[in-house]
Amino acid sequence: MTGVEISAPTQLTLFGSSAVDRTAAYPRLRYMGSKYRLLPWIASVFETIEFDSAMDPFLGSGAVAYLMKGMGKRVIASDYLNFTTEIAKAAIENHASRATPHDVEMLICAGPYAKSFIHDTFDGVFYDTADLRFLDTVCANIPRLDDPYKRNLATAALIRACVKKQPRGVFTVGNNGGKYDDGRRDLRLTMRDQFLEQIDAYNDAVFDNGKENLALRSDVFDLPQDLVGSVDLVYLDPPYVPRSDDNDYIKRYHFLEGISTYWKEDAVLEESKVKKIPKRFTPFAYRKTAIEAFERLFAQFRDSTIVLSYSSNGYPDLEVLVELMSNFKSDIVVHRRDHRYHFGTHKAVRRSIVEEYLIVGK
Ligand SMILES: C[S@@+](CC[C@H](N)C(=O)[O-])C[C@H]1O[C@@H](n2cnc3c(N)ncnc32)[C@H](O)[C@@H]1O
Repeated sequence: MTGVEISAPTQLTLFGSSAVDRTAAYPRLRYMGSKYRLLPWIASVFETIEFDSAMDPFLGSGAVAYLMKGMGKRVIASDYLNFTTEIAKAAIENHASRATPHDVEMLICAGPYAKSFIHDTFDGVFYDTADLRFLDTVCANIPRLDDPYKRNLATAALIRACVKKQPRGVFTVGNNGGKYDDGRRDLRLTMRDQFLEQIDAYNDAVFDNGKENLALRSDVFDLPQDLVGSVDLVYLDPPYVPRSDDNDYIKRYHFLEGISTYWKEDAVLEESKVKKIPKRFTPFAYRKTAIEAFERLFAQFRDSTIVLSYSSNGYPDLEVLVELMSNFKSDIVVHRRDHRYHFGTHKAVRRSIVEEYLIVGK
């Protein structure tokens, strides 16, 4: 492999730029694969690259897209999930709309519009009756907001309220006698109080970076070519083929995806104990399709600088990925650092050290 340089491991240095400081205001989402804790390091690598516009087509929690917005870049953020896109519309595309006290009063007021799908479907599965009724109320009121960004912001606040009130932030197991209820404040607050706090959090996260940013929902391979061709840099953070377990986002976050459309898109699977919706296929999650998917991805973004997040517990190995990228890029640098990665098990929280990579191809 010529032209490939593996840089020495970098230590985490606190990066005092205002863009990183600003991410402290970003409502952090407990999300599988979130790069929130790696933002200072990611920012320090971005700083070595000249670019004005960037795409984040696996946006997830939106932390990296928000960082790039804070760096003054024109950002296009997308994901194939709807709820992640709602959050990005609220915090990345939106540059000025905030929910007013009057809006909030309207949103939480139980009225003639109320529906009961959430209560009827999830009673005894997640949350208590009052919380479920509250979710139905807010979902019925969100469409009454005229400004689409305010609707996105209210939806984002509702999603984060649901995550915070759900033990471990995942929806794989239902109410189970308080097994995971450790008495945390987040679990004790009512859904209503959570929602009010999250409205403030998203209101505070809104800012204008002077650019026309865009958030859209799309499978990475369906993104319009004119958008793909319009950016200087692409940050790629696809899911990894798991070495064990699985990395199915819908299995963990089906409730959030469902609430983001009020289950209009996918009916719940009646046989599922936690009332899941069907899984979404992605070629990045399987050994037999991942390599070809990476090749397609590198070909798709061949005209932009590629920054790929990867880790030592992913498949294929780093060397294979660098080799694949070198078919499209002549100048490749691998930045690496250790990352302590937390993941829950049924009994305890195990910890393991993985090496995180940022593979930059120009
Ligand atoms: C590792 S996460 C990204 C994490 C993100 N960088 C963060 O900091 O939160 C991968 C994301 O890719 C999305 N995804 C998976 N397959 C996709 C596809 N084929 N097209 C678009 N998005 C996809 C998932 O929904 C998930 O949000």
